[in-house]
Amino acid sequence: MIFLNLGHQPLANNYTNKKELSKKKKYILTVQYQKKNNLISIKKKFKSKIMFNNKYPYRSSLSKTMRKNFKDLAKNLINKFHPKKILEIGCNDGVFLKNFNSQVTVGVEPCKNIADLIKLKKINVHKNYWDLKLANKIKNKHGKFDLIYSANTITHIKDLDIVFRSINQVLSEEGILVIEDPSLLECIKNVSYDQFYNEHIYVFSLISLQKILKKHKLEIFKVENLNVHGGSNRYYIKKSMNKKIRINHSVKQNKIKELKYKLDKFITYRKFGKNVKESKRKLKKLILDIKNKKKSIIGYGATAKSVTVMNYCGFKSDEINYFVDTTPEKKNKYLPGTNIIVKKYKINSLKNIDYVYLGAWNFKNEILNKERKYIKKGLKFITHVPYPRII
Ligand code: TYD
Repeated sequence: MIFLNLGHQPLANNYTNKKELSKKKKYILTVQYQKKNNLISIKKKFKSKIMFNNKYPYRSSLSKTMRKNFKDLAKNLINKFHPKKILEIGCNDGVFLKNFNSQVTVGVEPCKNIADLIKLKKINVHKNYWDLKLANKIKNKHGKFDLIYSANTITHIKDLDIVFRSINQVLSEEGILVIEDPSLLECIKNVSYDQFYNEHIYVFSLISLQKILKKHKLEIFKVENLNVHGGSNRYYIKKSMNKKIRINHSVKQNKIKELKYKLDKFITYRKFGKNVKESKRKLKKLILDIKNKKKSIIGYGATAKSVTVMNYCGFKSDEINYFVDTTPEKKNKYLPGTNIIVKKYKINSLKNIDYVYLGAWNFKNEILNKERKYIKKGLKFITHVPYPRII
């Protein structure tokens, strides 16, 4: 049951330096609810091969917040579980695995340009997509793992059955699977519709994930609510047969929270759909009012989320003059689907700018702190989360 139509959208990380190409190749992005397992997914699901290739521009280690989060998590996992062998599915540039002894880690990263960055850190990496074939290959080569970690990856893979069957192949009987992904509850509460783009095939709630895992004899034993990526959940999962681990009260607490918010009812999503339309109307008004006063607006953080917002609201370089971003791979390319160019972020990028649209709103604190000198001088930030406004 479809509840949201975000219009014509491009592949969110398809950066090009050719303006004409940027505007071509769009598809209609709609979001649907599956009653059976309360699962939210985008309707048109692309194959991994199309989205994650050797030109993938996203790098986890470019944010200070993320580097610190991964470092702290690695320390906690070592202290709590004393893992002997660790596998990460979707290890990006190795920002998490580099915190462990490289002798005991294995990474999976299908984007070869990103995987090549990992070699420098001497981490054992398989440059393939996560599936049964790769899981078998890894099991034959490295044996089973007592810790498997995956952040912001599982929700990017179309066939969840294959994902968890493959995990079951390589997870030891008493092993632990830790996954983290944006929280559907936070997405709905914050009207952060930009969590939806081609790579985010699913946005999990606890209740949906529980149903999917049950089929694979896997069970969530703890949930942590995180601030990262605009509100995420970290799920600690074990094999159902393993009775040594007790179920933490956080599982029940989070379930109650989600049911109270009616994440198991279609009407919640219908209401969300209406809120999204209202958010678009208000953001357009805010931006156009500023432009009418002949002020400059640039975007900060050329995120995949910004691609959804710019394309859904129909913003062009007349409204958002350009974006600045720290990612080398995005430099001098067009924000997918638009004629808005991405410039390399420089220390004085915000000099003489009136307003900044916060594309990377999930790093609000890090960015506002970094740019406080300009804010003091009168620079203003705009966000649409949880509602369009000047910060
Ligand atoms: P992110 O919000 O993680 O991603 P997405 O929506 O694409 O999944 O991406 C953050 C982007 O913002 C990334 O392109 C790097 C950029 N960025 C900056 O340019 N400066 C900053 O200070 C921060 C924190 C991020």
